Amino acid sequence: MRRPSRGRAFLDLEGPAPHIPPARVPPQKAAGPRNERVFLRMSSSTGPYPAGPAPAEGVAPKPARKLLIRTWGCQMNVYDSGRMADILAPLGYAPTESAEEADMVILNTCHIREKASEKVFSDLGRLRETKKARAAEGRQTVIAVAGCVAQAEGAEITARAPWVDIVLGPQTYHRLPEMVARASRAAGAVIETDFPAEDKFDHLPEARAPQGPVAFLTIQEGCDKFCSFCVVPYTRGAEFSRPAAAILAEARQLAANGAREIALLGQNVNAWAGASPDGHTWRLARLLRELAEIPGVARLRYTTSHPRDMDDDLISAHGEIPSLMPYLHLPVQSGSDKVLAAMNRGHKAELYIRLADRLREARPDLALTSDFIVGHPGETSADFEATMRLVERIGFAGAYSFKYSARPGTPAASQPGPVAEAEKDVRLQALQAVLRRQQDDFNRACVGRVVDVLVTGTGRHPGQVAGRSPWLQPVHATGAAPVGAVVSMQLRAALPNSLSATMAHEESAAA
Ligand code: 5AD
Ligand code: SF4
Repeated sequence: MRRPSRGRAFLDLEGPAPHIPPARVPPQKAAGPRNERVFLRMSSSTGPYPAGPAPAEGVAPKPARKLLIRTWGCQMNVYDSGRMADILAPLGYAPTESAEEADMVILNTCHIREKASEKVFSDLGRLRETKKARAAEGRQTVIAVAGCVAQAEGAEITARAPWVDIVLGPQTYHRLPEMVARASRAAGAVIETDFPAEDKFDHLPEARAPQGPVAFLTIQEGCDKFCSFCVVPYTRGAEFSRPAAAILAEARQLAANGAREIALLGQNVNAWAGASPDGHTWRLARLLRELAEIPGVARLRYTTSHPRDMDDDLISAHGEIPSLMPYLHLPVQSGSDKVLAAMNRGHKAELYIRLADRLREARPDLALTSDFIVGHPGETSADFEATMRLVERIGFAGAYSFKYSARPGTPAASQPGPVAEAEKDVRLQALQAVLRRQQDDFNRACVGRVVDVLVTGTGRHPGQVAGRSPWLQPVHATGAAPVGAVVSMQLRAALPNSLSATMAHEESAAA
């Protein structure tokens, strides 16, 4: 574990991309190829979050207030929104989805999409009207902006939207109750975008509201890699690993609350190196082995990883821990050694290929997914061809692909050889076509297999259940099974956004 350095840079940027797959990518209007994910995967809930813990016995409940949290971006933001709800629950805040009803609105923001901050400002414009209308009825509304836009553009938010009461960076969520109290008293915004000396995880409530069968657990934050194009090291700070005991305690609690699948989160999750209960430092493989022992935890995942941090033990863990799902998101960004060097990725294409081979040796059914950037400064068509060759060589089950967009303040923004927008479009289209084909191939290859599906809810049609496969594909099946059950199903067809299945036991009963 390392404490974050307190260094911090404010960037006027157009969209940091937390190094975690986006949980929700709202529709974009841009014509031509879009930065997109071509995954077939369950979108994580960014809507209503579960109600917070009930007040302790003997403690008078606070007057009912309503809280609306809107979440953009990565799964770490989804996790953070849940924790903000947890910390505000004892103050009497219960969730709502209506801005008109909300006594407090938190916009938990992300920079992954271009113009993301503009979308935040237009949402803030609408909230201004709501706040005015509520004030006319004598009701106060606290408006907070959290997340990476808040971290990077705090001053601009308060200048352009003075009706915002609180601006808080990702490291200061534990101070929310105090900020709410100050905001309710003070005129002018309360701004907390420091990297404080205390650890926010130590100050968040231990009790976590039930998450459902799939739970996120942040084990690591920040990044020291400083890829040329990326703002994460500036917005989320230096790498920090939570101690193992705290993670294990949280996981036990999640399991007790009904979680069957736990996804460990971190911007650089496989760089996790946390203090162990016996005073040593564990790496991720050891942590996974310990987590696998927790009763009730049927499935483990972790995201997002860096190729340089895939150590031998972690590769072996994929073959040795049955509950570690055969799925790994391992961004490569480019297949050209020249571009990888310009990106400051610290590895060559060959290392990635070797890792993929070794992982598949350890776990032959492993689904590999990745991130790509096309049009990084200096990328020639020969470099792009090298990326296409790497994609063909590996065979991905899904991928996120992006056109490079300059983030002011990052090294790449001042690197020579910008690639024309039209050329980026052409490359992105070509790359996405291959990735989509590979994804379809992967999904079709699953048809006919009997696999364990974790039931997450009811399906779109009556009499159906919805779940997720070991490879994170959404699955729909006719039949009944309780949420949280792991049910053996036969995959029947690959549909555009899901797989259809039948319950395997019904098959055998019918046979
Ligand atoms: N331009 C385009 N894509 C980016 N990403 C990060 N920064 C940028 C940028 N400046 C992508 C990377 C990363 C993913 C989360 O977002 O592929 O892995
Ligand atoms: Fe950003 Fe690179 Fe760190 Fe990922 S490894 S968060 S792309 S700096």
